[in-house]
Formats: sequence, structure tokens, C-alpha cells
Amino acid sequence: MQVWKDYQEKNKDRFLDELLQLLRIPSISAKTEHKPDMVKCAEAVKQRLLEAGADKVELYPTDGHPIVYGEKIIDPSKPTVLVYGHYDVQPPEPLNLWKNEPFDPTIINGKIFARGSCDDKGQVYMHVKALEILVKTNTLTNNIKFCIEGEEEVGSPNLGKFVSAHKDLLKADCVLISDSAMISLDTPSLDIGLRGLSYIEVEVTGPNRDLHSGVYGGAVANPITILAKMIASLHDENNHISIPGFYDDVLISSDEERALMAKAPFDEKEYREDLGVKELWGEKGYSTNERTGIRPTLELNGIWGGYTGEGAKTVLPSKAFAKISARLVPNQESDKITTLLIDHLQKIAPANVTVKASLHHGGEPYVTPIDSNAYKAASKAIEATFGKSPIPVRGGGSIPICALFEKELGIKIVLMGFGLDSDNLHSPNEKFDLANFYKGIETIPHFHHFFAEM
Ligand code: BES
Ligand code: MN
Ligand code: MN
Repeated sequence: MQVWKDYQEKNKDRFLDELLQLLRIPSISAKTEHKPDMVKCAEAVKQRLLEAGADKVELYPTDGHPIVYGEKIIDPSKPTVLVYGHYDVQPPEPLNLWKNEPFDPTIINGKIFARGSCDDKGQVYMHVKALEILVKTNTLTNNIKFCIEGEEEVGSPNLGKFVSAHKDLLKADCVLISDSAMISLDTPSLDIGLRGLSYIEVEVTGPNRDLHSGVYGGAVANPITILAKMIASLHDENNHISIPGFYDDVLISSDEERALMAKAPFDEKEYREDLGVKELWGEKGYSTNERTGIRPTLELNGIWGGYTGEGAKTVLPSKAFAKISARLVPNQESDKITTLLIDHLQKIAPANVTVKASLHHGGEPYVTPIDSNAYKAASKAIEATFGKSPIPVRGGGSIPICALFEKELGIKIVLMGFGLDSDNLHSPNEKFDLANFYKGIETIPHFHHFFAEM
């Protein structure tokens, strides 16, 4: 629609300016010291939704960070789209690897560099501006609700309770989420699935105190060595996860589905060079896209112990720690895999150490069919603005609330992400291409129109 394009063209600098303001708020959900920033950010999202034309916006306090709920109801008998996103971000560390300050958004070569630019404030803001366009051009044909939370990056510990307690408030015909990536602007794609997660932390204790490594070394098991051995045993020579039962519930993708996936363009050399690795790694028998899409994985997210400060200290440490997470695929269940992981670590621990393992958070995998109205509307919207229909792909990341939305609200979810895998999510120098930001704002109104028509 030309009016949408004209409106965006006239206001694009302001749109960007407003996003930059939002990106200046360090809304790091994981750190208690940023609690005031979380409230500030939630207030800012609320304010922006009101300015864009929402007729009701509330902050709902939780045991953690507030949830922003907003709505624009034009007619309760019309279809309703619930937009979900998150205003919280991952911690920016390591800071020395950033080219600019993570909360001082800087535009270089048409890309916004800032923590949260892509994940997910930039993508949430596309929806706020799409609402503004629809309202201000008088072209809204459906109802839009917003649920923007502040705890996605810490596993959404309070959102489930909110959803169960506010089913009427959140009642909608589909959920629209822009919190993932597409292949590229030239090859648009839509995620038809995300992986689940089981995240645990392990503590291995050897002697009851740190010891002199000369006096005791060689006579007492070093918990770091033991932990390293335990971890190394979790994959076999084919990079298959060697925990008995781990793959029991994995839904094996059909040859047909795998053939379809293989059609998505993938340039291995470019992928390797972008990451600076000479060779890729992964489960034998699967392509890179399959390894990150349809197969479960096990990753070490952190490992520490002993002396890690400046200089040397000859110590045989008492403890070693690791953070370990598994990405899950249908029909694996997060609780079941968590128990399996914890039990397995206990079982393989030798008698010279004690192992404590506990859950951080989890979430179920999500897959969606491509014949739902919501998917079709997203596909048509992308075709309208990109001139190509999107390729359905499976995303490797996790948005734990997806499975819960479907279960509690009984509606389908569309994952219409406009980021790129190379946007450095959770890494230093996170970015969001301005072209993707504007393309998203252009595409979202089409989604609402196609969905309302169906
Ligand atoms: N936006 C991501 C998830 C994502 C990224 C999906 C890329 C598809 C492609 C989300 O913010 C995220 O990072 N989720 C966490 C899970 C959470 C429980 C911490 C993740 O995937 O690690
Ligand atoms: Mn995200
Ligand atoms: Mn994230």
C-alpha cells in the first residue's frame, strides 16, 4: 500500500531516532543492579505504544521484571493478532571486544550496533511503528494486542503465570513474533520451528579446601581434571551425544523434509570465514542446517574453577563448575532431559569427587505447520514486500514461551523474524541492518491485512 510506504518514508528518521533512544537503556534482565533500567525500559515501551495509537497500555508487575501489555481494539468481532517480544537484553560482556559502547548505539555502514538492536528491541520496535502506520493512515482492519516481556533472556520465569492468569486479556487468533532471523533480504525465510532448552549448572567438589598443588598434587583428584573428563565423555567420536536415552524421543525428520531443508541456500565457505574457523564440527550424518535445526545438541556455556586471576597461583582447587545446556527438538521434553542430564553426571562422577547439579531453566521445542492461516498471511506479506515467497526453515534458538502460548491460548504462532544469523546476538557488536528494520516495518502491516482477510 502506497500510503504505508509514504508514511514510512516521511517518518523514517524519527523511527530510527526513537529506536536509538530505546537502545540507550541498559535493560539487562540477568543483573539485579539494572532493575531500575528494566522499569525505565518498560515505561518507555508503554509510552511509545500509547504514542503509536494503542488505546490501553499497562505495566503488569511480576516477581521479576514488568510485562508490558497494550492493545488497539477496533472491533471485538474482528480478528486479533497478539504481538509478543521482549525488551530485555543479554549482558554485553566482554566489553573490550565491542567497537562502540553497547548502550551507545552507533550506525556504521547502514547497521545499528548496540546490545538489543536485533534481539529484540529493534524487532519489537518494528511492530510499534507498524501499529503507528496502520493507525495514522486509518487502515487498521483487525485488533492488535502486545505482550512485551522483560525476562525472555533469563528463561521467562514469570510469563507462564501471567499467561495462565490472563487468558481473556490475551485472547487472540494468532501470535506474531519477530525475535528470530531470516536467511537474507535476498532470500527471505520464515521459521517454522525453534528448539527447546534444558540448562543446568554443575559443581564438582574434590578436597574440602584449596590445596598447595605441590604438597598435595598427584595424591588428590583435581576437580577441574575430573570435570573436564566428564564433559569430554558427553560426545562420542561421531559427535553424537553419548548419554543413554538422550535421543529416545527425538522425532526423526522424513527424507522429504530433509530434502526440502537442503534447498535453503548455504555457503559453507562464507559461514566458516565469518566465524574464523578452518573446519566445521558436528554430528556425523547431518548437514550444518540440520545440525542447528532438526537435531538436538549439548553445549558447554561456561566452565571455571581454581585460580583465574592475574598472574600465577599454584593451587589444587576444591571446586570446578560448568554451565551446560542442551537444545531440544520435537518430541523431547525439557524436564525429562534435565533429569537425564543430572542423573548421568552423577552416575559418571568418580568416587573422588562429589557432584551437585541443578536446573537453570528450560523450555519446550516448538514447530508449526505451514498451512495455518497465520503462516499463510506471513508468507503473503513477505511476498508482497520482498517479491519472493519465504523459505520455511527451522531456527536453532529457543523462545520457551512459544509452546506455552500454543497450549494455554490454543492458537498458532508465526515467527516472522527480520534479523540475520550474523547479527551477533548475545555476542559483542550485536547489530541490526537498517534495511531489515525498515523492511520489517513495511511488511508487518501487510501481515495484519492478509490475516484479517482470512
Ligand atoms: N531471540 C532469541 C531466540 C532466537 C535467536 C531464535 C535466533 C531464533 C533465532 C532469544 O532471545 C534467545 O536468545 N533465547 C534464548 C533462550 C532463553 C531461555 C535464554 C536462547 O535461545 O538461548
Ligand atoms: Mn530474543
Ligand atoms: Mn536472545
